[in-house]
Amino acid sequence: MATVEHLPPLWDAFRRDLAEVSTNDALTELRDKYLSRNRGVVTLELKKLGQLPAQERPQAGKLLNELKVQVEEALAEKAREISAREHSARYQAERVDVTLPGYAYHIASRHPIRRALEEMEQIFVSMGFSVMSGPEVELDYYNFEALNIPKGHPARDAQDTLYITENLLLRAHTSPVQIRTMEKQKPPVRIIAPGRVFRRDAVDATHSPMFHQMEGLVVDQGITLADLKGTLEMFLKAFFSADTRIRLRPSYFPFVEPGAEVDVSCIFCGGKGCSICKQSGWIEIMGAGMVNPRVFRILGYDHEKYTGFAWGMGVDRIVMLKYQVEDLRLLFDNDIRFLSQF
Ligand code: DAH
Repeated sequence: MATVEHLPPLWDAFRRDLAEVSTNDALTELRDKYLSRNRGVVTLELKKLGQLPAQERPQAGKLLNELKVQVEEALAEKAREISAREHSARYQAERVDVTLPGYAYHIASRHPIRRALEEMEQIFVSMGFSVMSGPEVELDYYNFEALNIPKGHPARDAQDTLYITENLLLRAHTSPVQIRTMEKQKPPVRIIAPGRVFRRDAVDATHSPMFHQMEGLVVDQGITLADLKGTLEMFLKAFFSADTRIRLRPSYFPFVEPGAEVDVSCIFCGGKGCSICKQSGWIEIMGAGMVNPRVFRILGYDHEKYTGFAWGMGVDRIVMLKYQVEDLRLLFDNDIRFLSQF
């Protein structure tokens, strides 16, 4: 029973074992090996104390208990070491380099067409207009027939319409909304109708099979061509700039009489002539005219009592002018590098 003599070698063995330990799991195993209640090496030594002669017991007990305390302290110290090492390893792994550039967040913006449409609507609403809409899949009747474009009329070919069935088509202009409005509403009428329109056009810098128009219609007693010109001029000055001028050129559309093409003074050169306006000083942006009495007759409006004017403007064209976009395709590609400039 040479318990006490065992102590220095026991301590040395423990120290050697401890030196091998580098993880928490290994540390737990080591604690069990020396201190577990039924098979720990130190525990077993303590249990053996009872077999010692009475006079050796206090001294041996004291030494063994000191050893136990030392082992516990050494284990606790090791536990601290391991946790410090894990902490610093984690700290290294999760280290943030505050000098790196940050992530760029893309904040959405409104599409230039939407922006322009909203601005246009706002101007007309402030002039007393209501905003209407109509279906993109439209009946032949509204797209042509009621607009005084009967079957076989040459204007039908000119529009290169996309048909779904013989009587159903993708609307080729926003003019059908004029008819739908007048069907539902008696004069006075003062509406705009922005929306998408469709034609069988190949895509290039100035053409797209889908584009936008904004229709306008005013019907009341005593409406004249001067009202048409004044209204559009007021709108264009508000939308482009106060020095914008407008010009009407006689033209033909079956649903108006007289009809006109409306030009604005070139917003790039102010009318002096440049490459954008092809040296003319003017840029065409819409068709317009006085509502043809035949249209009123089709709808049952009293064409003796009422007169009106209408227009259909090319929204994409206007957007290109306003934001100086040279290629229509940019408006439909949805390239974020382009869109984020607005
Ligand atoms: N709808 C015609 C087009 O797409 C444009 C137009 C011309 C509309 C004259 C009108 C108008 O309301 O009066 O080419």
